[in-house]
Amino acid sequence: MAVKDVSNKVPIYKLKTTEEVMKYYDEWGTNNKYDQDMIDWDYTGPKETVEIFKNHAKNKEIKIYDAGCGTGLVGVELKKYGYNNFDGADLSQKLLDLVPHGLYKNLSKTDLNKPLNIKDNEYDAVLCVGTFTFGHVKPPALDEFIRISKNKGLLCFTINEGIYEEYGFDKKIKELTEKNLWKKKEFFKSNYIASKNVNAWLGLYEVTK
Ligand SMILES: C[S@@+](CC[C@H](N)C(=O)[O-])C[C@H]1O[C@@H](n2cnc3c(N)ncnc32)[C@H](O)[C@@H]1O
Repeated sequence: MAVKDVSNKVPIYKLKTTEEVMKYYDEWGTNNKYDQDMIDWDYTGPKETVEIFKNHAKNKEIKIYDAGCGTGLVGVELKKYGYNNFDGADLSQKLLDLVPHGLYKNLSKTDLNKPLNIKDNEYDAVLCVGTFTFGHVKPPALDEFIRISKNKGLLCFTINEGIYEEYGFDKKIKELTEKNLWKKKEFFKSNYIASKNVNAWLGLYEVTK
């Protein structure tokens, strides 16, 4: 089946390097423009993802890592459902500065394309929403998410449909499944940014160690 070309739908999809991405988001945060655009675009990634996540994560005390947390839209959704123990990490200090105070336990400026400065088996769950997209974070980050998760931990993420095959996420998912490093619980096409006709794969996997 032909893959829909979404590469011209949103300006960030033209960015190539981590440096360009960071600069773009730092500017996008000015005057809360990022959050306003997400409302205007009807970006439903955080809401859709946490709605699925909460069906599998019954214990609200679990420790969660929000990878690529941006301004904290995922944290806002987590809080709505009673989760209270989550950390956030993002490349853009400007967006991290916009996260509502007290929402996350810890925030760190982090490049998710590099090894994470986090111990093995530290988290019960990793969420990564909107961050597997053009020029952003690449498939090896999934290895790190598994490493920092406990056995039976949950990984819940979106992958922009436009890069799913181009960046090799399809192969990575197959590899992790074949190596029995995780078990699929959910995998489907979500609405994501329906107003721009851009969808994302939404996956939820249970780590097996
Ligand atoms: C579309 S935003 C999603 C933010 C948030 N999760 C949400 O749903 O609103 C993508 C985020 O990925 C971050 N990002 C891009 N490349 C990154 C990298 N290499 N490491 C960490 N974060 C990165 C950006 O700074 C931005 O906050």
